[in-house]
Amino acid sequence: MPVLVVVGAQWGDEGKGKVVHHLSRGADLVVRYQGGDNAGHTVVFGGESFALHLIPSGILWPRTRNVIGNGVVVNPQALLAEARSLERRAVAVRGRLAVSLQAHVILPHHQALDRLREAGRGAVGSTLKGIGPCYEDKVARRGVRVADYLEPGTFRQVLDEALAAHADELGRAAVRRLRRQTLAAYPGLRRFLAPLCQDTVRLLAAACRRGRRVLLESAQGAMLDIDHGTYPFVTSSNPCSGGACAGAGLPPTAIDSVLGVAKAYTTRVGLGPFPTEMPEPVAGRIREKGHEYGATTGRPRRIGWLDLPQLRSAIRASGISRLALTKLDTLSGTDPIRVCTAYLWRGRRLDDFPASRRAQQEARPVYRDLPGFSGDLGSRRSFAELPAAARRYVRWVEGQLGCPAGIVSVGAGHEQTILREPRSGKSLWG
Ligand code: IMP
Repeated sequence: MPVLVVVGAQWGDEGKGKVVHHLSRGADLVVRYQGGDNAGHTVVFGGESFALHLIPSGILWPRTRNVIGNGVVVNPQALLAEARSLERRAVAVRGRLAVSLQAHVILPHHQALDRLREAGRGAVGSTLKGIGPCYEDKVARRGVRVADYLEPGTFRQVLDEALAAHADELGRAAVRRLRRQTLAAYPGLRRFLAPLCQDTVRLLAAACRRGRRVLLESAQGAMLDIDHGTYPFVTSSNPCSGGACAGAGLPPTAIDSVLGVAKAYTTRVGLGPFPTEMPEPVAGRIREKGHEYGATTGRPRRIGWLDLPQLRSAIRASGISRLALTKLDTLSGTDPIRVCTAYLWRGRRLDDFPASRRAQQEARPVYRDLPGFSGDLGSRRSFAELPAAARRYVRWVEGQLGCPAGIVSVGAGHEQTILREPRSGKSLWG
């Protein structure tokens, strides 16, 4: 059963879209299992750039089927806009995309709540897509699932119950306006969504039974995981590999291997602790060279050095057996390259990412400086062609983490992907 989970090993934006697109050429099914249109997966393919938010990156290969699993929160308006924009560029979506009947639906009041909260004291720097409030409604058992959304009578009833629960926070006038807005868009969105929806747990079980190649694609990353991340500055779902089981309806025994995607340095958007954050102007140089601006919100990303305690924790929580190390080309010209090997907090050395929010804020990185490299790495097509110092950097990181980098990426293009394992990365599948 060749089932592979691809997770982000840092704070999101590691280049999962590119890596998943690369690996999904050989996949029968690509599945999103958590998050929503807060994600921004940029894929450069055939000289064109595609920014995907909700639709799995497998959509760009014509033979791959794509699934939005039950753990995802689906904004029908955003899904329609993304499907149309892909179809305008000759990428067929309808007929190749299945949406779980059990997924929860993001509605206008979720976005209104997200905006209200972000304007107040509890701000985490969210993407304002309504992700957190939708997951809140799910856990509070007043959410609207896709199956409910497709039944007009049920939908109206569940919507009114949810709006009543939020009336104090939103205000009566806003609730009336949001209700009108939701119901006005509803018939068209329902017509679009209905033919896509099905029992995706059954679909996946059948695919696994037949030995099909299934790739489960996380959004965001390990440190934004609601359980394993820098709580409360996290997203509201589980990007870690365990989230793939609940969010796709696949048993843990179905999963063969887990690939973690990590940048050769670190970035984060939004608020929250970031122990290896770099000072300017080094951060600015890397931001410009690596085009480090959010694919969903356009916000400049915060830039930091590679953080080994953070990666060790991510590798452990997701059972990552191989890494894809991306954006090595962006580090070219930076000398020396710093890597955090441990933290110091209150006179103690920490080898893992601490759970305490105070320790996450106050821990100071212990750095090791490694020699930098130069030259245009984007044109190199094999590991052996990379500058010796770049190879040493990769090998040293692998040794420190006890985890091989099966893929090294040296640019956004599909062809700028170095597979270090024999037979075009087949072993990455299990
Ligand atoms: P939310 O997921 O919009 O609720 O945002 C919660 C936190 O996760 C914020 O710090 C966001 O910036 C961050 N976040 C959400 N999606 C992404 C992503 O795709 N990449 C990086 N950060 C993200």
